[in-house]
Amino acid sequence: MAILTVLDTPRDLGRAAAERITTLCEESIAHKGSVMIALTGGTTPVGAYRALADPGEAWRHHIAWGQVHVFWSDERAVPPSDPDSNFKMAAAALLSRVPIPSGQIHRMRGELPPEDAARAYEQELIDGFELAARYDPTFDVLLLGLGADAHVASIFPGSPVIAETERRVAAVPGPKPGTFRITFTPPALLGAQHIVLIVSGAEKASAVAAAMEGPLDEARWPAQILRRAGERVEWFVDREAARALAQGG
Ligand code: 6PG
Repeated sequence: MAILTVLDTPRDLGRAAAERITTLCEESIAHKGSVMIALTGGTTPVGAYRALADPGEAWRHHIAWGQVHVFWSDERAVPPSDPDSNFKMAAAALLSRVPIPSGQIHRMRGELPPEDAARAYEQELIDGFELAARYDPTFDVLLLGLGADAHVASIFPGSPVIAETERRVAAVPGPKPGTFRITFTPPALLGAQHIVLIVSGAEKASAVAAAMEGPLDEARWPAQILRRAGERVEWFVDREAARALAQGG
């Protein structure tokens, strides 16, 4: 059963998520000497990323940033300079404001042809974990948002990637015609030790309820894939996004 935390406001949501991410990073660094974290894209996590980097917050100084290795769980098939780039968003909100060695920031190369980018990232995962002397290719922390259609990463309703059991990275059509995404597949998502979702807004309420409580139909509600990870999944949801939940939104 996943763990649910409901926060009153989007600001409280960002701060609570930042605090939890900090704790998980500290624990991983203490036990393993490093933390392998996969960031999510979209707009919701910006508040948490900014809070993580805020020098006025105590937790900002708790993370040994030199031991942090950053990856992404998905990316738009665009160059890093593109306004739609998840890398660009994270660089502005977090990575430009904390001292993570550049060699430990593993960008999905959205500027490549999508299938080439997916293949390249499979290798980047191998190389990046070896760089950290981490030969168990599972993330310590994996962040996700949630689409209003209950997609996670870029695993959209009806996607054949939902049934993927071998590959860890795939190229898929994006939500807008003619666009593409590079995304983690269920094996990559479900291997993580801690999966942290950050969800805000009334427009996500039905997706949250379907993902957490609805009848099982992963093809229709891809976030239900996360049910396979049980208590390794932690939902941080604001009051608006939680309001359709029976379990106390
Ligand atoms: C992306 C994300 C995607 C996102 C959801 C929610 O690349 O857009 O990985 O899965 O988390 O679409 O997006 P918002 O936070 O913008 O609502």
